[in-house]
Amino acid sequence: MNKLIIANWKMNPASIEEARKLAAETDVEGLIICPPFPFLEAVAKTIKKAKLGAQDVFWMNPPTPLAGQAGAYTGEVSAEELKSLCVEYVIIGHSERRQNLGETDEMVAKKIKTVLDAGLTPILCVGETKAEHEAGKTKEIVKRELKIGLSYIPHLTSNIQLVIAYEPIWAIGTGTPDTPENMLNMVKFIRGVASDWPLATRIIYGGSVTSRNAENFLKHKEISGALVGGAQS
Ligand code: PGA
Repeated sequence: MNKLIIANWKMNPASIEEARKLAAETDVEGLIICPPFPFLEAVAKTIKKAKLGAQDVFWMNPPTPLAGQAGAYTGEVSAEELKSLCVEYVIIGHSERRQNLGETDEMVAKKIKTVLDAGLTPILCVGETKAEHEAGKTKEIVKRELKIGLSYIPHLTSNIQLVIAYEPIWAIGTGTPDTPENMLNMVKFIRGVASDWPLATRIIYGGSVTSRNAENFLKHKEISGALVGGAQS
């Protein structure tokens, strides 16, 4: 199976011209480009082989009091709006949002549901901090993030596409990735927890993946791809 490479542009680049250029340069099969919201449409129009993803979504598709009204949530972006821009994947629960913007497991769970309801594929990010890692709490943390994050997915539903990104927070943007051994151990653990749901789950790894070390992770059949941040910005 082809590996999924998710390019998380984070809050880059600064202009639409640069976004178009970057998208054109990286337009390859198997890549999912996740630009900032303002550049989604420009990237959608530029790419031919890559697919489009968003970096976040609001946690509900608001009820529409009047036909055509999107709802009273200033500054937020709904899954339906993303879908109308040809977005197919949505990153949910990235650690930078959990740590810096107060995103809770409960919000993550609602976002997963709203994205699935819109027919898009969520990329659920889970992972532990350095302190949690050193305290031996990795599995406890990841299990909690998965159990709550997936709690609105009905157990009886089948054929749900889901991507889970294991991203140890201490490895993100540090230049020090996890070891392939530990990653494989976590992939096995995550698959066990997620098996409570009848999901078509692909598990990917993120955290200081570069063109130089990607093969160390991607060569394993257990891993379906990588979530890459800084290496391509
Ligand atoms: P990184 O970021 O590749 O710079 O470590 C990964 C991420 O933020 O998802």
